[in-house]
Amino acid sequence: MISAHLTIDPHFQVGPVRRRVFGSFVEHLGRCVYDGIYEPGHPAADEDGLRQDVVDLVRELGVSTIRYPGGNFVSGFRWEDSVGPREERPTRLDLAWHSTETNAFGLHEFGSFVDKVGGEMMLALNLGTRGTLEALDLVEYANVRAGSTLADRRVANGRTEPFDVRMWCLGNEMDGPWQLGHRSATDYGKLASQAAKALRQLDERVELVVCGSSNAHMPTFGTWERDVLLESYDDVDYISCHAYYQERDGDLGSFLASPVDMDRFIETVVATADHVKAVKRSEKTIDISFDEWNVWYQDRYRDVDKIEGIENWPQAPRLLEDVYSVADAVVVGGLLISLLKHADRVTAASLAQLVNVIAPIMTEPGGPAWRQTTFFPFAITSELATGTALEVKLESPSYETALYGEVPQLDAVATHDAETGRTAVFVVNRSQTEEATVEIDVTGLGAVAVRSARTISDDDVTAANTLEDRERVTPHENDSAVIDGTTLMVTLPPVSWTAIELG
Ligand code: AHR
Repeated sequence: MISAHLTIDPHFQVGPVRRRVFGSFVEHLGRCVYDGIYEPGHPAADEDGLRQDVVDLVRELGVSTIRYPGGNFVSGFRWEDSVGPREERPTRLDLAWHSTETNAFGLHEFGSFVDKVGGEMMLALNLGTRGTLEALDLVEYANVRAGSTLADRRVANGRTEPFDVRMWCLGNEMDGPWQLGHRSATDYGKLASQAAKALRQLDERVELVVCGSSNAHMPTFGTWERDVLLESYDDVDYISCHAYYQERDGDLGSFLASPVDMDRFIETVVATADHVKAVKRSEKTIDISFDEWNVWYQDRYRDVDKIEGIENWPQAPRLLEDVYSVADAVVVGGLLISLLKHADRVTAASLAQLVNVIAPIMTEPGGPAWRQTTFFPFAITSELATGTALEVKLESPSYETALYGEVPQLDAVATHDAETGRTAVFVVNRSQTEEATVEIDVTGLGAVAVRSARTISDDDVTAANTLEDRERVTPHENDSAVIDGTTLMVTLPPVSWTAIELG
């Protein structure tokens, strides 16, 4: 049995919890769009071909911004292909995922989807194989009310009101050699700066995300952020971070500690951005848009899923359809804790992705939609984490990992909403064998009661939800959470994630 101690006090403020931290990502990749959110022949499809069962689950998941249309896909994408009468839209080859793109689903269909799920659009611009002019055209098409050929074309295509998109990504993963149009940090920084200046001339309300590193293990990590920002600091608002984690070689201990890596990643990028701020004597602070994060078994994609061959361009193939376990859900819950611990600088984030492709929601064509294990920590955190993120004072035993050295067995963050009186505590137990008894000092909160306590854990940490057994894993009430005076006691099973709501 492990013992740990936490102190929660509303004075230990990190920063406001922005709704945009609960963003997600829809890419034209595999079955994320086709057979995922869009399946006109499905019994649950609405008049726009959108699956109502998926729309309902996305609403339940509680996502805010949705990034679109890529990802790697965007670097070969011509946005004009995806608007106008469907029968006139060209069919293209998507080089990123070696697939056929029919463009049956495009900007307007995505707009309807976002409206129906109550989200906010976040669009990526192609700065890989295209440039400033095409980016300007898209922003004009999307955001100008009427009176220009492009704006009037949007109206003629059925959207009278502008899409009013605020968040725009200046390309995607431009540091990656796999990216169409990949270039050096300085070259990309200059391009991003020029594009950003032009976009602001068109629409001063845009919020621009410049590409950071594709992951913290890229050979250029650190210098990439510095050199890109040296060129573009004054012109952009966010720098992106991307990170995917997986269990390798049966090393569950390191895998469960993935959020420690995310903490270090965020803190390094913040330090690098602030270094450039100092060099530039700037008054402005650049925030992080962590716009791709998740568990992803990438080795499987490279070894099994990858499509090749000049005659082989399938439509909506099954790609990156990872089936998530209880352990994966605990890691996703831990990654959300890491994002909230950095709420002062991570002010936008996107779980990659939303449906079928490394996703919390799965679907079968003509069949059901269901929640993966990773759905639950996201949905519960999105529901409960309101107000201000709080640093918790945590005393926890530690353990040794092969990848990250010594790490705490437990990790936690809290949020406090002064308006509603709600406090939420999110905590993981990374021990593979021991329960943890946690004593939480809530003196600073005054008189509070436990409203709910939900835990994700299972005797079998590999248990997953599948087509055949769609509710094998669900969160369960944790009855051990009780308040005695100013102390909240809770017991956490091994390999578990727990959310406690106090009010
Ligand atoms: O999310 C899957 C892919 O991962 C994205 O297309 C790319 O940006 C990243 O490498």
